[in-house]
Amino acid sequence: MAQLSQPAQNCVVQDEIQQQLAAGLLAAHAHTSPKYLYDVLGSRLFAAICELPEYYPTRTEAAIFALHAQQIAAAVGPDAILIDLGAGNCSKAARLFPSLRPRQYVAVDISVQFLEEAVSALRQQFPQIEMTCLGMDFSSELELPATLGMDRRQFFYPGSSIGNFAPLEALMFLRRIRKGIGSSGGGLLIGVDLIKDKAILNPAYDDALGVTAAFNLNLLHHVNRLLDADFRPRDWRHRAFYNSEQHRIEMHLEARNELTVHWQNGGMRRFARGERIHTESSYKYTREGFVDMLQQAGYGAVQTWCDPNNWFMVCHAQVA
Ligand SMILES: C[S@@+](CC[C@H](N)C(=O)[O-])C[C@H]1O[C@@H](n2cnc3c(N)ncnc32)[C@H](O)[C@@H]1O
Repeated sequence: MAQLSQPAQNCVVQDEIQQQLAAGLLAAHAHTSPKYLYDVLGSRLFAAICELPEYYPTRTEAAIFALHAQQIAAAVGPDAILIDLGAGNCSKAARLFPSLRPRQYVAVDISVQFLEEAVSALRQQFPQIEMTCLGMDFSSELELPATLGMDRRQFFYPGSSIGNFAPLEALMFLRRIRKGIGSSGGGLLIGVDLIKDKAILNPAYDDALGVTAAFNLNLLHHVNRLLDADFRPRDWRHRAFYNSEQHRIEMHLEARNELTVHWQNGGMRRFARGERIHTESSYKYTREGFVDMLQQAGYGAVQTWCDPNNWFMVCHAQVA
């Protein structure tokens, strides 16, 4: 296949993004990929969500990492290449550096500008660790640069971001990571949110201050820029609830009134009052269900650590 020059490649990517967004908006049940929640402001709002009292995943996962630091470090082993998928502000990896002692840190995220700022601050703090910043969308492919070493690749995928994939897609994503690890003593350290009472789940995605609402509504600004669309965030309201049949939180944007949205090249859609755009799912698992998925994805020994309430789980899966 002919190689595309960089600007031509960017145009192809932009076309793909626009086609994907337009197709989702025109679907019978309008939807957008959760990756569009993350522009610079979206990344900042997500970091604020992690501080909210209702958002238990971040602090529960941090408590598991703190309590089981030695065992987790023993499972991961020192001198690894730590590859942080969806690194965001990199704060989770940074907290683990003293116990994991990686030789290299590779931060990967679609929200490139935000990631670059985070990594450049981290370089000052940990000059002994070689750091690489990779701006990429890993939702369909996980292609790491050929120059990256293969020895002891440890992927890090915290925060239950795996829950943003539907279960079959999650299985395929775990297989892609498995392939990326290769066969020289690597593994995957992953955080997974567990099924629990909706009285705990619902407020975590619909907080009293409205930070998650702002995070969800900000997607419309992002889509306006990507698709030259005319969404007005004031015309939409945030909806988030646990769907107990599908074991997932659903986030939607709901039209406050009947309205029409337009975008480039004559694209348009009329939304009835109350009609929704599905913007994110966050699947919850049982411990056994997720370990079974890791095994189906081809991993070997799996170690798990949970908090005392069994709200959240951290797993380390080795590659046999
Ligand atoms: C739920 S946040 C988690 C951030 C951080 N790892 C944590 O646990 O707090 C998801 C992160 O993944 C990134 N992300 C989402 N979809 C992505 C994709 N398709 N490709 C690359 N990064 C993605 C977002 O920009 C965001 O930083």
